[in-house]
Amino acid sequence: MSTSIKKIGVLTSGGDAPGMNAALRAVVRTAAYHKVECVGIQQGYQGLIDNKVKVMNARSVNNIINKGGTVLKSARCLEFRTKEGRQTAFKTVQKHGIEALVIIGGDGSFTGAMIFQSEFNIPVIGIPGTIDNDIFGTSHTIGYDTALNTVIEAIDKIRDTAISHNRLFFVEVMGRDAGHIALNTGIGAGAEEVLIPEEDMGLDRLLDSLKRSEKSGKSSSIVVVAEGDKTGKNVFEIAEYVEKNMPYYDVRVSVLGHMQRGGSPSCFDRVLASRMGVSAVEALLQGKSNMMVGMKSEEIIFSPLEKAIKGKSEINKDLIRVSDILTI
Ligand code: F6P
Repeated sequence: MSTSIKKIGVLTSGGDAPGMNAALRAVVRTAAYHKVECVGIQQGYQGLIDNKVKVMNARSVNNIINKGGTVLKSARCLEFRTKEGRQTAFKTVQKHGIEALVIIGGDGSFTGAMIFQSEFNIPVIGIPGTIDNDIFGTSHTIGYDTALNTVIEAIDKIRDTAISHNRLFFVEVMGRDAGHIALNTGIGAGAEEVLIPEEDMGLDRLLDSLKRSEKSGKSSSIVVVAEGDKTGKNVFEIAEYVEKNMPYYDVRVSVLGHMQRGGSPSCFDRVLASRMGVSAVEALLQGKSNMMVGMKSEEIIFSPLEKAIKGKSEINKDLIRVSDILTI
């Protein structure tokens, strides 16, 4: 390793995601492996502002690889968006002799990292941690796979009761700006229709499709709705609209909410987080900065943070086609 970095700081920021602890563990242990000191900053950028910093060594991260949430805690920090907030944060960096930062979070967290890096010239590497999978430069973000499995498990249960009562269920899943969770779980759970933020399928098309499936003999159905779907209506409004137009259906709504962010990470997320954590620290020690570690086709890759923030992680259009065909 070619730089003289002696101490790194690590924090988790934004919405938590299963696997953040596995990433933290990998960062701390890789630092220890390369004989670099490591400190954990609590509650994201807020901890930098409030000087909540604790020394971490290989043993501080025992028994967390299987834990959901983040032991460092997380926050969406408004103060860090101000110049004064960042100046206070930098004082903490100086006080503890932190020479580089690993930021585990989503695009909001990376925006903060980029600004901080440019203002104070501190090397930063981002690790994408969010269940939404909405970050450019990686096929998977940490937590996404676990969230998919959590949603599938929930919808399978909803299906049991939907069938028993001949009901039409609208299930809202997370994804303010991205339909990855909705589209994949829609296919995986055999949903009748999927509404996502990227494509406006229109409410009439939804009605047509539901009428068609009712005619073809389906007595219950599940529609997966991403919270930010393009119709501009929330899941309750959509359900009400359908119920008005299809009074013979007994309609119910189920909002899965924050349970999607919790739970023990899947093996996939643990391995992804471990690989990304190792690569992030080694990248800093090799002199990289302002980059995000990602994974594409099983390989670890790096992208400029700016690209990760501004680029769009496109949905796979083929999945829409697959979903359409299979709901015949
Ligand atoms: O973690 C991302 C996300 O789950 C979005 O899909 C969702 O809109 C948002 O977080 C809600 O998070 P919070 O309640 O923490 O603001």
